[in-house]
Amino acid sequence: MYRSFLILLSFLCFSVNLSLSDPRATQAALICTNRTATVPERQTFVANFLAALDAVTPLILRQKYAAVINGTGSTAVYAFGECMKDLDGTDCNLCFAQCKTQVLRCLPFQRATRGGRLFYDGCYLRYDDYDFFNETLSTQDKTICASGDFSGGNKTVFSANVLELVRNLSVAAPKNDGFYVGSVDRGNVSVFGLAQCWEFVNGSACETCLTNAVSRIGSCTPKEEGRALNAGCYLRYSTQKFYDNSTSPIGRNKSRGRLTVILAVTSSSVAVALMIATTVFFVRRRVVEKRRARKELGALLVTVNKSKLNFSYESLEKATNYFHLSNKLGQGGSGSVYKGTLSDGTTVAIKRLLFNTRQWVDHFFNEVNLISGIQHKNLAKLLGCSITGPESLLVYEYVPNQSLHDYFSAKMNLPPLSWAMRYNIILGTAEGLAYLHEESELRIIHRDIKLSNVLLDEDFNPKIADFGLARLFPEDKSHISTAIAGTLGYMAPEYVVRGKLTEKVDVYSFGVLVIEVVSGKGKDSVPQDSRSILQKVWSLHGNGRLCEAVDPVLEGNFQEDEASRLLQIGLLCVQASPELRPSMSIIVKMINDSHEIPQPTQPPFLSPATMESSPFRQPGSTYKSQPESSTQSSGNSMTQSWIEPR
Ligand SMILES: *[C@@H]1O[C@H](CO)[C@@H](O)[C@H](O)[C@H]1NC(C)=O
Ligand SMILES: *[C@@H]1O[C@H](CO)[C@@H](O)[C@H](O)[C@H]1NC(C)=O
Ligand SMILES: *[C@@H]1O[C@H](CO)[C@@H](O)[C@H](O)[C@H]1NC(C)=O
Ligand SMILES: *[C@@H]1O[C@H](CO)[C@@H](O)[C@H](O)[C@H]1NC(C)=O
Ligand SMILES: *[C@@H]1O[C@H](CO)[C@@H](O)[C@H](O)[C@H]1NC(C)=O
Ligand SMILES: *[C@@H]1O[C@H](CO)[C@@H](O)[C@H](O)[C@H]1NC(C)=O
Ligand SMILES: *[C@@H]1O[C@H](CO)[C@@H](O)[C@H](O)[C@H]1NC(C)=O
Ligand SMILES: *[C@@H]1O[C@H](CO)[C@@H](O)[C@H](O)[C@H]1NC(C)=O
Repeated sequence: MYRSFLILLSFLCFSVNLSLSDPRATQAALICTNRTATVPERQTFVANFLAALDAVTPLILRQKYAAVINGTGSTAVYAFGECMKDLDGTDCNLCFAQCKTQVLRCLPFQRATRGGRLFYDGCYLRYDDYDFFNETLSTQDKTICASGDFSGGNKTVFSANVLELVRNLSVAAPKNDGFYVGSVDRGNVSVFGLAQCWEFVNGSACETCLTNAVSRIGSCTPKEEGRALNAGCYLRYSTQKFYDNSTSPIGRNKSRGRLTVILAVTSSSVAVALMIATTVFFVRRRVVEKRRARKELGALLVTVNKSKLNFSYESLEKATNYFHLSNKLGQGGSGSVYKGTLSDGTTVAIKRLLFNTRQWVDHFFNEVNLISGIQHKNLAKLLGCSITGPESLLVYEYVPNQSLHDYFSAKMNLPPLSWAMRYNIILGTAEGLAYLHEESELRIIHRDIKLSNVLLDEDFNPKIADFGLARLFPEDKSHISTAIAGTLGYMAPEYVVRGKLTEKVDVYSFGVLVIEVVSGKGKDSVPQDSRSILQKVWSLHGNGRLCEAVDPVLEGNFQEDEASRLLQIGLLCVQASPELRPSMSIIVKMINDSHEIPQPTQPPFLSPATMESSPFRQPGSTYKSQPESSTQSSGNSMTQSWIEPR
């Protein structure tokens, strides 16, 4: 039912000579220890872990490595991160930003492991419950070989080249600040390699570590690629030149004025993994705790019980046949959703939250109150909640025709949406968002606009789901999840890189959605195809052939002028600079043809200028809003209230 997406955020860089830059944010291995935190420790351990991760980030931005300790005694967390030395600052940050979200997979919902290492090809992150900063080798070290044998020539020659290369690298790196790249090209067979020791591994330890790595990586030949992943070092060989030595033997030109980063659009399960992981915070209480907790709630409960927003847990359990699997509608980042029939016959959608709201019931209930007051034809209405049971539930109006995502997923095999339906869906979604941003009293940034959050009613009118969800969770408890709550492919570059949140983040996601709906999302597209749909549409726009991007499933049954208008609006929305993106109310007018549509001037790329503006460089500012840099017209106070609710 829930399609699991490949995690891929790929970045391409163009310079004048089209040289390629790449943060190499692809996973080599995730290694979690088998030691888990005991129940009483768990919450503190995870809190310390998140604090340590938060402290590591600004340091990485500054010096490309960082070591941090947070907490004391049995809940102390040691965290270390480092980028490969050939990555420039931008790529390092991009790689690390992703690595950070993925290491959370070692801290799953029910269990928090006390250590984890994530090796990316561009960066490394490890946390543990002891001081491992000087560790050279460990029992968890791994050797990862590619599956395919070398096929580009004589295998014997290839293997010999690999061995010569890795040996030479292991000798050169310790003498060269723990880093070396190089290649061997003998007998028409080229091999490329990189060796790096982590920052706190001294020269002799580096040698020991790499010598060990060499002895193990040799077992990979004649596979075309191999990696040795040790506690103290990283060694890789490949038939591809994967490293960057474009300007100097080590590192590269620091001036990146010419470079432009393209943010490729891909779906991702990062959000899900992330949300699940961070919920370790809000450990689900057992039913035994129910009674005690009820007492504590005291006076508030009296209010809650009187409110018509309050649903009893038991009634919702019954409505869903005790959350029977057959009633499950889907699984989202914040929890699973079930279809339920209340005793009065009303059909509702019930969301089981992964977060436990026990500690801030008052806040939660208050927000449910506010959000349930938001009503618009294109928003799925929040009917109420249940906060007195063993877990927190939200009750929404039931929207029968599934989500937009289902119509673009080959698996579901639903009849394709007609052009008129698509047009109507895009318009309605724009109206719903314009309402959230500009008309509703709360002024909500959705933050997670994507196909699966647009539901369709019986007449195929769109209804945006899950708006205001982030408001329900106090910032201090879930800052990581809120910073990267969205789904990567839909996330505006300034949000991914700087955590800067304004309503223009939604405009960006909306633009991606428009392009997906018009072009059919590319059902057949390969997940790892980094030439994203955005790039494709952008280049078709350049050639004046936008209509070629329209979903072939429609077999030409669409209005060409409408299609190119919508695609042009989509491209306007995904421009890299937030200021260039129109507001949602203007977009509604553009779709209605009552407002001129300007030509998009920027591709959906991130320029280094955007990325290097002040907030990016300030330690500690990565996931904070930056009032002084907010060039958006409205939205600023709203942004603040999102990030710092109190
Ligand atoms: C953890 O794994 C190691 C080796 O893989 C094993 O020796 C040890 O017994 C395991 N510990 C637990 C608690 O499972
Ligand atoms: C751990 O992180 C918390 C929250 O950021 C901070 O207040 C505390 O001082 C840190 N403790 C240590 C030992 O660094
Ligand atoms: C290098 O590190 C190793 C392991 O931490 C340590 O045993 C050794 O004393 C260090 N050598 C020097 C010269 O610091
Ligand atoms: C061990 O790591 C620490 C960082 O925590 C570093 O300051 C120290 O120099 C390292 N010691 C050795 C012997 O390398
Ligand atoms: C590969 O190269 C080695 C050494 O150069 C040679 O002895 C061997 O015959 C070659 N094998 C093939 C299949 O060409
Ligand atoms: C980069 O590496 C490649 C392959 O090893 C080599 O051919 C090229 O000369 C190197 N460039 C620089 C600037 O070192
Ligand atoms: C590797 O090291 C050996 C011995 O120092 C040297 O003869 C050889 O040229 C080196 N190979 C490369 C590709 O640097
Ligand atoms: C390398 O390849 C070229 C052309 O493919 C060929 O002419 C040459 O003989 C090859 N050299 C070796 C040493 O195999």
